Amino acid sequence: MLTVALPKGRIAKETLEIFSKIFGDSFVFDDRKLILQTDKFKFLLVRNQDVATYVYHQAADIGVVGLDTLEEQGLDIIRLLDLRKGVCKVAIGMKKGEKLDLSRPQITVATKMVNITKRYFAERAIAAKIIKLYGSIELAPLVGLADMIVDIVETGTTMKQNGLEVVEEIMESSTYLIANKNSFFEKKSEVLDIYEKIEHIVKNG
Ligand code: PRP
Repeated sequence: MLTVALPKGRIAKETLEIFSKIFGDSFVFDDRKLILQTDKFKFLLVRNQDVATYVYHQAADIGVVGLDTLEEQGLDIIRLLDLRKGVCKVAIGMKKGEKLDLSRPQITVATKMVNITKRYFAERAIAAKIIKLYGSIELAPLVGLADMIVDIVETGTTMKQNGLEVVEEIMESSTYLIANKNSFFEKKSEVLDIYEKIEHIVKNG
């Protein structure tokens, strides 16, 4: 039996569709239920930012989560496979027409991805002031809260509609299948079996 942590929303649905393709069964959570038990798997529905936490503490053996979230959280888990879904970028955005001038004495950056942002500026030896926000990041430069933002860009529509544009791409991200380190050894055959089956679907559809 493997426990699988899935992030609520589209990615959970798409991952369950992969399982349905593999096993020919339908895998659907009942209404508001957070656990879906089948004969081989126990699926958990959690918040995106909590997937790696469940896997890290071995409350789940495997999980599905974005690379951006993994990079931000830095938990010690195994990255098994790029599922090539949820493709997006982490990028620096500024008001249209403004230029990224890293030689300025003080730079203020608003983001919900504090660690990725800290690392980016530290690697360039730039003392940036980072302001942590929890959402609507695009608002910050418009009201003078920050000079720029570090945020997820998928279609680019949110930035565009708010008069911002990407001035620098920090990383590309997509959804990964991850595993707990102990589970990977204790349940190696089960983990590798589902890994291979999912990989087959990802590659061949
Ligand atoms: C992300 C991000 C942007 C938006 C970008 O937020 O913070 O606001 O998506 O997408 P786009 O380039 O396609 O417009 P998300 O929808 O994940 O919500 P969140 O702020 O709750 O994380």
